[in-house]
Amino acid sequence: MRTPIIAGNWKLHMNPEQTTEFVNAVKDKLPDSDKVESLICAPAVDLDALRKAAAGSNLHIGAENCYFEDEGAFTGETSPKVLSEMGMNYVIIGHSERREYFHETDEEINKKAKAIFANNMTPILCCGESLETREANKQEEWVVGQIKADVEGLTAEQVSKLVIAYEPIWAIGTGKTASSDQAEEMCKTIRETIKDLYNEETAENVRIQYGGSVKPANVKELMAKPDIDGGLVGGASLVPDSFLALVNYQD
Ligand code: 13P
Repeated sequence: MRTPIIAGNWKLHMNPEQTTEFVNAVKDKLPDSDKVESLICAPAVDLDALRKAAAGSNLHIGAENCYFEDEGAFTGETSPKVLSEMGMNYVIIGHSERREYFHETDEEINKKAKAIFANNMTPILCCGESLETREANKQEEWVVGQIKADVEGLTAEQVSKLVIAYEPIWAIGTGKTASSDQAEEMCKTIRETIKDLYNEETAENVRIQYGGSVKPANVKELMAKPDIDGGLVGGASLVPDSFLALVNYQD
């Protein structure tokens, strides 16, 4: 059985004081981790505050990006080794904003996935098509292409632990959610791709999130779909009450 995982991606929002306040407001109201994993991925400058505030609670913690080398002359980058030493559980990689604004390639994303696993953390691998690609009805081949390139060389054991986030770019921050059927269709395709690349067991284990204007009002319907195991949430994860409504969607 796959444990559902609802994650906030704070993007470039919040400072350390706001992070501490947020965690203090939610930490005693989170579901048990074996029922639903609650996760916040925060900007690098907030991670120390995040880990201190979340200590001893059910809140899982993660970063929004990292580099693929542990150390060296790489000015301005974030070390996966240090993220792991700090107690981070997850690192988001390949978000469409990083692919678009920071020109991240599948090759770099693949290296990051390997570095994150090597440091005993779990990557949340993002994929998703643009509006133009969807209008041309090429979304499946686009997303399958991203997945194949991004998991290249990962073992079945690693992919069993991987989290994949399907985030259609046209649904991010636009208020325009993919319908639950559209989201399910792609998440199913992603699971079939993992089955083709690995095997049935790996495909059954990999957790797949949907992201793009997820909010308390639509989370239940999305989570009811058989191949959707969680949500990766931007805007609606920034306010404690809204985050709590998302992670407690089963209540
Ligand atoms: P929104 O929930 O704000 O649409 O953002 C989605 C997203 O990009 C999460 O990674």
